[in-house]
Amino acid sequence: MKKKIVILISGRGSNMQAIVEANIPNAEICAIVSNDAQAEGIAWAKARGLATHGLDHKEFPSREAFDQALIKVIDFYRPDLVVLAGFMRILTTPFCLRYEGRMINIHPSLLPSFPGLYTHQKALDLGCKVAGATVHFVTPQLDHGPIIAQAVVPVLSGDTADDLGKRILAIEHQIFPKAVAGIIAGNIRLDDKRVCVINDAAPTDANSQLISF
Ligand code: GRF
Repeated sequence: MKKKIVILISGRGSNMQAIVEANIPNAEICAIVSNDAQAEGIAWAKARGLATHGLDHKEFPSREAFDQALIKVIDFYRPDLVVLAGFMRILTTPFCLRYEGRMINIHPSLLPSFPGLYTHQKALDLGCKVAGATVHFVTPQLDHGPIIAQAVVPVLSGDTADDLGKRILAIEHQIFPKAVAGIIAGNIRLDDKRVCVINDAAPTDANSQLISF
């Protein structure tokens, strides 16, 4: 039986697109959920016949109420994996615990450096020579949690935050689908608080020195 995936987005949804277009074996993308019904990624998913849901957080009296409504939408699909692909809402502890071990996030920095926003500018301000992206299991602490995969890019002289962001986004699109595929295949799993990766899940492409599982 196929493993079910629900993907949460807030905007453009390019990581969601990378995952959908990867056609991951044995995976069914059940739904794309956004806290903004007008999100670019929602239009993209609808045009491809995927089930979509827009749940506007501003219509809920509290973060808790929004998360409860979100749980109802997600649980309808009984997903094996919940994927946060640019979902720009801070999630409550009960929400995070409900999907513990089966919810992953991508963050545009080499965690544990630079959790939160403005990661590219922070890396530039501190003179980092490399930057990157991290895929991790979600825990109640924002942008923490067991690390599944990281990818590194150089910081080039004269880079703006935008330049660096574009370079990192391109590599996000490589590692995120691979991480999802590894979990679906059972090659990546959470063992207590550490991520176990069966070797076959490690990438073998030309960039493999820069991508680590
Ligand atoms: C990505 O950089 C992701 O790492 C961060 O938000 C951005 C979302 O981009 N969490 P997109 O919507 O996937 O294009």
